[in-house]
Amino acid sequence: MKPKLYIETYGCQMNVSDSEVAVSLLQKEYDVCTAPNEASLILINTCAVRDNAEQRIWGRLMEMRLLKQKNPALIIGVMGCMAERLKEKLLNEAQCVDLVVGPDAYRELPQLVQQAQSGQKAVNVELSREETYEEIAPVRYNGNGVTAFVSVMRGCNNACSYCVVPYTRGAERSRPLASILQEVQQLLTDGYKEVTLLGQNVNSYCDKTSLETVDFAMLLEKVANMSPTLRVRFSTSHPKDMSEGLLQAIARHSNICKSIHLPVQSGSTRVLELMNRKYTREIYLERIAAIRRIVPTAAISTDMIAGFCTETEDDHRQTLQLMREVGYDFAYMFMYSERPNTKAARTLKDDVGNETKTRRLNEIIALQNKLSLQSKQQCVGQTYEVLVEGVSKKSKQQFFGRTSQNHVVVFPQLHYKIGDYVQTKIIRCTSATLIGEPI
Ligand code: SAH
Ligand code: SF4
Ligand code: F3S
Repeated sequence: MKPKLYIETYGCQMNVSDSEVAVSLLQKEYDVCTAPNEASLILINTCAVRDNAEQRIWGRLMEMRLLKQKNPALIIGVMGCMAERLKEKLLNEAQCVDLVVGPDAYRELPQLVQQAQSGQKAVNVELSREETYEEIAPVRYNGNGVTAFVSVMRGCNNACSYCVVPYTRGAERSRPLASILQEVQQLLTDGYKEVTLLGQNVNSYCDKTSLETVDFAMLLEKVANMSPTLRVRFSTSHPKDMSEGLLQAIARHSNICKSIHLPVQSGSTRVLELMNRKYTREIYLERIAAIRRIVPTAAISTDMIAGFCTETEDDHRQTLQLMREVGYDFAYMFMYSERPNTKAARTLKDDVGNETKTRRLNEIIALQNKLSLQSKQQCVGQTYEVLVEGVSKKSKQQFFGRTSQNHVVVFPQLHYKIGDYVQTKIIRCTSATLIGEPI
């Protein structure tokens, strides 16, 4: 029997995907387990995007320290963005960390673990211009067997002034088309029904390794063409790079999901400029208009930051107004958190007080709750194709799945099974869930 690896993942979908790569790279030596106290190797895959994300992980490391006190042979490793940002500081200050490995160094994991076992602290946080783990087959150790993430690019070449990601993940690079198609083919063979193509800015995907240069719209179509019963999603789009060609590709294929995540961050052109987002409120709204025109059934979601440097009440009102204008179906909403060494931290003052930030965030959340409920209410009475992902958490007799628009639907199991497509009529809703009946 192999020793056990316990891996815990924080942060974005990229990290979920990276944990699957890490498990793949360690599968010769370790089996995955689901309880930390059974493990001889614990990996925490971390996020550094906001201070509260990091604080949570420090707290978790303090709990891991207790496990290590009981079992001194236990190896504890920190991987991901916080490993990249803090490097040796983690070894010195967490007092239980044996190994620190950055997002581009996972191929070294087996050697680093060995080094840690021999009693030496092991660190590799080197970033790479090429690494895409292209031929590593991710192990979907925590999956549902129906939906999977497929990483299509790494890093980020944008320089949003608030954001730590370009520093923790390095420069943007695209994974070669052939290796992406191969991974999707394997997923199809294994019975998967949905893939989400992942990158920080998928619209700038560009593969020059084959005969023709492949952009993101082409990639998306090639994946969609692999099987009419494979659903294809993608995340994230940057408003400055989202082309009409991409929207037309989405409209052409019924299996490319009608759900577009288009983070706006702020509704004020002045703030957007300080954020270095490279679009104005007007350009953003033009993109929304293009979505409504070319993919009229699309659901639109966003990310919002409340209380960025110098944000005034008027800027904030413009954000709320833009949210109403777009009528977002869903949003991730955050309070601005200054990240050390970013452009904003170096050149702008984090001058919106905590109380004001909290109030503005709460106003944004309250408005979005209303918009989300409206979006759900519009679905009532309609029929959608739902891909069944699993048993509902609230009721064992119910399944849950998603519509193409990414709305969660709960409905009676009847004779259906996980992985089926079920035509479902929506009979009522809450602000988070649609309640349906198969027809
Ligand atoms: N690449 C994606 C998102 C990356 S991070 C994009 O460009 O949209 C996910 C979200 O975290 C961002 O969209 C932003 O809303 C939020 N975020 C990033 N840095 C932040 C910070 N310093 N404070 C608060 N929120 C932040
Ligand atoms: Fe960060 Fe901007 Fe890159 Fe997104 S596009 S990861 S917000 S720098
Ligand atoms: Fe966090 Fe890194 Fe993702 S900072 S949001 S885990 S890219």
